[in-house]
Amino acid sequence: MILEKFSLEGRCGIVTGAGSGIGKGIARGLAEAGARVALAGQNLEKVDAASREMNGDGLKTVPFRVDVSEERIIADLVRSVVQEFGRIDFLFNNAGTIYRSPFPDFPLEEWERVIKVNLTGPFILSQAVARHMIEKGIKGSIINTSSLIAVFGGVTVAAYAATKGGLTQLTRSMCNDLAKYGIRVNAIGPGWVKTDMTKAIREDPVRFKGISDRIPLGRWADPQDLAGLAVFLASDASSYITGQVIFIDGGYMVM
Ligand SMILES: NC(=O)c1ccc[n+]([C@@H]2O[C@H](COP(=O)([O-])OP(=O)(O)OC[C@H]3O[C@@H](n4cnc5c(N)ncnc54)[C@H](OP(=O)(O)O)[C@@H]3O)[C@@H](O)[C@H]2O)c1
Repeated sequence: MILEKFSLEGRCGIVTGAGSGIGKGIARGLAEAGARVALAGQNLEKVDAASREMNGDGLKTVPFRVDVSEERIIADLVRSVVQEFGRIDFLFNNAGTIYRSPFPDFPLEEWERVIKVNLTGPFILSQAVARHMIEKGIKGSIINTSSLIAVFGGVTVAAYAATKGGLTQLTRSMCNDLAKYGIRVNAIGPGWVKTDMTKAIREDPVRFKGISDRIPLGRWADPQDLAGLAVFLASDASSYITGQVIFIDGGYMVM
């Protein structure tokens, strides 16, 4: 039956950056669909609080500390999650960071930091998780969080735009290399979502109005708006979808 294909009962996975914003919304959706979810974040207090909140609602989550820019810590995360759950069926590379500066002044150290968190982190973590899936014969799902900015370029966000464009191609490349193991790799491309990352833009009345006026659905997304797509991509309901970037933007791209 079709609704059973959306169920994540018996599945286990990781969401990075799960202590806030989109990651928290997605993690809750995956857990509500029946999965056991490792909430991985840099700030242990944040993922711990998110986990207590979700578990209080009867969901099954476990908090883990990770800095996705640290290769050794990523290896520890994968080991610890396998120890806790026994297996990893899905990985959501959601953690991300941004730095804003006009291009001529963009500091090299910020360029390197953003690349490490947004692009190298997903590369290392996906590799570790893919190796686990291959070894255990798990036909898993890896999902990356790209952005509209992968297509539009954005303003004053050179490193961020480069990483989101890079994630799109990493998604396609991983799709081609991992399909033979039955591992699917997709990306979601959120539009404008009400999170800490977009707080400064939402507080700028001119930019806020300019963006809001262009969203056909007439509102910014809440993190929970992304949960349905997350569940779909992690579940058997999307069993023939791989290598795709699916935008979830209230129609912004086509306006
Ligand atoms: N908001 C939007 O409109 C929008 C649009 C398109 C794409 N996105 C993408 O969506 C993802 C989530 O962003 P958000 O909007 O939900 O903002 P957010 O609330 O600021 O979430 C970012 C998350 O990433 C985590 N993180 C940052 N650096 C990390 C690191 N080195 N290691 C581990 N975790 C790290 C943060 O954890 P700590 O707080 O513990 O550092 C935080 O939980 C990002 O990839 C972002 O690029 C957002």
